[in-house]
Amino acid sequence: MLIFGGSASEVLAIDIAKILGAAVSKLEIKRFPDGEKYLRVQQDVSGQCVAIIQSTFHHPDEYLFEYLLIADSMRDLGAEKIIAVIPYLAYARQDERFNPGEAVTIETVAKLVESVGTNEFYTVNAHLHRINDISRIFSIQAHNLSAVPLLAEYISRNIELDNPVVIGPDEESEQWAAAAARVLGVDFDVLEKKRINAERVEIKTRRLNVKNRDVAVIDDIISTGGTIVETVKVLRREGARKIVVGCIHPVLAGNALARLYESGVDIVLGTDSIPSPISRVSLAPTIASALRKVKE
Ligand code: R5P
Repeated sequence: MLIFGGSASEVLAIDIAKILGAAVSKLEIKRFPDGEKYLRVQQDVSGQCVAIIQSTFHHPDEYLFEYLLIADSMRDLGAEKIIAVIPYLAYARQDERFNPGEAVTIETVAKLVESVGTNEFYTVNAHLHRINDISRIFSIQAHNLSAVPLLAEYISRNIELDNPVVIGPDEESEQWAAAAARVLGVDFDVLEKKRINAERVEIKTRRLNVKNRDVAVIDDIISTGGTIVETVKVLRREGARKIVVGCIHPVLAGNALARLYESGVDIVLGTDSIPSPISRVSLAPTIASALRKVKE
């Protein structure tokens, strides 16, 4: 299998290739003066199985279009099998028509990815809260990998926690909080969240007592940081001691990181689905082990 990294995930692609005992294959990607992209595949892909690693954060339209260019060119150049690895899958929040006339964006993304000849699709902890099985939106084989065990193992190995408990900031985070708690061998609970608007949320506690305990908060995404800021306020009010926050996708929009540290969180970390100052956990082992199982 040949591994290629789009411009959003060059380093992650190198790390994945290393684990698989390969070198990352070369793409030349540059911009014309008018802003359009130029792409050249610098490796013979004819008859080969190729994996294209390309997260879609911060500039989702650009990175998604770049994926389409890469995959379509490879199909045209005779690649036998094309595997999309899109660790952070943009446009997944709109997985339903909440109001009349809205675009169900994730369905459009799935159709586009398939239209260029992608044979198999991988993502990591997709934000599909109303769809519990990602293969419902794809007609090709699609896999939603979980990086929660990696995140929890990192916390367990590197951060000292006293009488810890895992907390998910809302009901939707229960699956991740439960998985992290299993790895850490501790209790978990989730809080109740009401979203007021895109940046403001209200959070209430449910049953678990966090007084004088260290807390690991686990969520899939930190975007504006609003959810975590409110969660930290509630946990402090309830007497929590050290607060460690782990997320899969550190979107960190605007001044989110500053807001988080100002809120009094002790440690915040995420994965390299989105390269960021807190991306301490690499997804490379999870993705490499999934790619090892692909039938070429
Ligand atoms: C919500 O459903 C997600 O699991 C995250 O809690 C949310 O996306 C975080 O967004 P923000 O950081 O903007 O509160």
